[in-house]
Amino acid sequence: MSSDENQLKRYELFPTPVWASQLENFSVHNQAMLEYIIQLYKNDPGLKRSNVLGWHSPDQLHNEPAFTPLQKQIEEFIENVIAQDLQLDLKTEKYRIKTMWCILNSQFAHNHLHRHPDSLFSGVYYLQTSPNSGNLNFHDPRADVRMLRPRFAKDTSFSNFIVPFEPLPGRLLLFPSWLPHNVDPNLGEQKRISISFDIKGYPIT
Ligand SMILES: [Fe+2]
Repeated sequence: MSSDENQLKRYELFPTPVWASQLENFSVHNQAMLEYIIQLYKNDPGLKRSNVLGWHSPDQLHNEPAFTPLQKQIEEFIENVIAQDLQLDLKTEKYRIKTMWCILNSQFAHNHLHRHPDSLFSGVYYLQTSPNSGNLNFHDPRADVRMLRPRFAKDTSFSNFIVPFEPLPGRLLLFPSWLPHNVDPNLGEQKRISISFDIKGYPIT
């Protein structure tokens, strides 16, 4: 990388994007998804993944009609926002949801630190949350930055190894699947219900 002696410039190397969006006018679709999830919760033991005490549904929810609006919303977000930000080549590869599942965390349930293998982008949509129902925490994946930690006078994006996001109803978050994350215990009394998903690229033939 060349430098110009007459100009000071700071490069931001290896940035890690996290996209957050509050979906407008989308809550009309929540009831159908909630009804499907509650019914499934009663009849399916669920899967064991990062969930501790919580219920992880089977992972093909995007094939159910109640989830089609969310699937479309997410795939449009990839095409209109992420593909533009990252300059993805949409002529040769299309991005589609590979798996979609629900996490239902009752009181004290949480999700331990994990990544989403075999996927490019991952995300979550919050259906039902309350204050203290458990933040989603992203962890700096660069282990080497922990080797030297100076004293910071003020918190900035350079000083945080862990960045929390509050789960707000209607909030959609997307992030690279390799970004480690965990979910804090639900300290509220209401169930915390979220829908997670993984996205892969498929060649356009
Ligand atoms: Fe996750």
